Amino acid sequence: MNELSLTGKTILVTGASSGIGRAAALMISKAGGTVIVTGRNPERLKAVFDLLETGNNPSSVPGNSSFVIRHSSFPADLTNEPDMDALISHLPALDGIVHCAGIVGPLPVKFIAQADIDRMFGINYCVPVNLTSKILRKKKLADGASILFMSTIATKNPYFGGALYSGSKAALEAYSKTLALEMVAKGIRSNCIMAGLVDTPMIENPSEKNMQEEALERYLKRYPLGIGRPEDVANAIVFFMSEASKWITGTSLIMGGE
Ligand SMILES: NC(=O)c1ccc[n+]([C@@H]2O[C@H](COP(=O)([O-])OP(=O)(O)OC[C@H]3O[C@@H](n4cnc5c(N)ncnc54)[C@H](OP(=O)(O)O)[C@@H]3O)[C@@H](O)[C@H]2O)c1
Repeated sequence: MNELSLTGKTILVTGASSGIGRAAALMISKAGGTVIVTGRNPERLKAVFDLLETGNNPSSVPGNSSFVIRHSSFPADLTNEPDMDALISHLPALDGIVHCAGIVGPLPVKFIAQADIDRMFGINYCVPVNLTSKILRKKKLADGASILFMSTIATKNPYFGGALYSGSKAALEAYSKTLALEMVAKGIRSNCIMAGLVDTPMIENPSEKNMQEEALERYLKRYPLGIGRPEDVANAIVFFMSEASKWITGTSLIMGGE
C-alpha cells in the first residue's frame, strides 16, 4: 500500500484560487484525492478546478454524461459568515482540511489600529478557527481526519512590520496544538507548516530574477535552500493529508530553513 496516496480521501482546501492553496489542490488531486476548492475570486477558482486531475471534471470532458463528478468548487469570502455557512452546507464528510486562505500586510507597530488587527486576525485566525469548529459541530469531519494550517517561519524569526501577521499565525499555531489534544480520541490530527518565503502572488516580486543583487544576497542568506515554490509546500501538505503522517499531531513543520 502506498501510504502517500490520497485515493478515497475527500479534502477541503481554502485559499485554493492562488499560490500555495492552488498548488495543494492540484497535487492532492494528482495523489488521488477528491478536492473541494474554495477561494474568493470565482474566475481564478474555476481555472484551478478545471486543472484538477482525474479527467472527470465535467468541464474537461464536454458532453460525457456518464461521468461521475469527483471534485467541487465553491467561491466564498470566508470572513462573511453566511458565505462560510453556505460552504459548510455544501460539504460532504471530509477526511482532511487544508487552511491556506490568508493575507499578509507589513505594518510597523506604531501604526497598528484596531481595524488592522480585525482585518489580519479576521482571515488569518478567526476564519480557520470558526470554520474548523463549525465543521466539527456539523459532524462533517471523519474520524482519523487530518487538519493542516498554514503558518510562517516569522512566528519564530520576526521581521520589520510583521507584528500583526506573525501574531495571527502564532495564535493559529497555539490553537492547532490544543485542537490536536482535544481531537486525539477521534484520531483526528492537527498540524501546521511554518513556511519561509514562497514565490506566490502574496509576496511581491520574490523571484530571484526580479531582485537587486544585494537584496538577493540577503534573502539567500536567510534561505539557504533558496526561495520556495508553492509545489514545495504542497508536497508536504500531501504528506500531512496522507496516512504516511498518521503518527504526527500537534506539530509545526519548519520549511525553507532560515
Ligand atoms: N507566500 C509565502 O511566502 C508564505 C509563507 C508562509 C506562509 N504563507 C501562508 O500560506 C497561505 C497561502 O499563501 P499564498 O502565498 O499562497 O497567498 P496567495 O497566493 O495570496 O493566496 C491567498 C489565498 O487566500 C484567499 N483569501 C484571502 N482572503 C480571503 C477571504 N476573506 N475569504 C476566502 N479566501 C480568502 C485568496 O483568495 P482570492 O485570491 O480568491 O481572493 C487566495 O486564494 C497564507 O495563509 C499565508 O499566510 C505564505
